[in-house]
Amino acid sequence: MSTKIFAHRGASKYAPENTMAAFRLAELMQADGIETDVQLTKDQVPVIIHDESINRTTNKRGLVRNLTYDELRQADAGAWFSRDYAGEQIISLDDFLKWIKPTSMLLNLELKTNKYPYQGIERIVLDLLDLHAMKDRTMISSFNADTIRRIADLDPIIDTGFLTSRRPRQLFALMEDMGAKALHPKFRLLNKKLIQECLQHNVPIRVYTVNQPVYILRALEAGCDVIISDVPDRALELKKGYITS
Ligand code: G3P
Ligand code: MG
Repeated sequence: MSTKIFAHRGASKYAPENTMAAFRLAELMQADGIETDVQLTKDQVPVIIHDESINRTTNKRGLVRNLTYDELRQADAGAWFSRDYAGEQIISLDDFLKWIKPTSMLLNLELKTNKYPYQGIERIVLDLLDLHAMKDRTMISSFNADTIRRIADLDPIIDTGFLTSRRPRQLFALMEDMGAKALHPKFRLLNKKLIQECLQHNVPIRVYTVNQPVYILRALEAGCDVIISDVPDRALELKKGYITS
């Protein structure tokens, strides 16, 4: 099994996160896949953005859920990162899927329902994936167990991952109960015991957000299925060296 390298929010160390610039760069770097975040606008359009508010990553202010898609499109999502990226916009999931479809990359959609549940987001996202025939290349993840449960109920086949930054009690029973097929742990949770248990339970590990070489190497050594990284170029380089050494 060869570990796949996913670009976290695109190649987000080098270009503004979750913009087309960051996604194109990830493709250029030959990442195996892209991890990105989905939230819903006031008019129920799924859009690609990490925070619940647009304050940090655009030149405008407000909550995604209180703004329409047209209003969000007025915001500049690149200039905060560097003047070179001025003019980048928040994009819809629909446009993102249109773009990624003809590439060979895999996709990890993280549904950001941990602060606001965005009622109905699960069905909206699944319908769009269906429309673009992207379900077999997509993993849906969330920190919110209810979201995973709803996805698994609506589509028992699609790949799902439970995101966690701490180890809950009865992790594997919990995951089975919600219908999660994989574990997406924070990199600091990775240890021999967890790796062993995942193997025993036949649960793939897709670890985030791994940027430092020492942790990338550790994840490669552990045989993680996916490494999610802001620096996919670095992870790919280390992987090359790891395989040939
Ligand atoms: O999906 C992995 C990672 O993106 C989860 O945390 O906050 O970077 O979306 P965050
Ligand atoms: Mg994310």
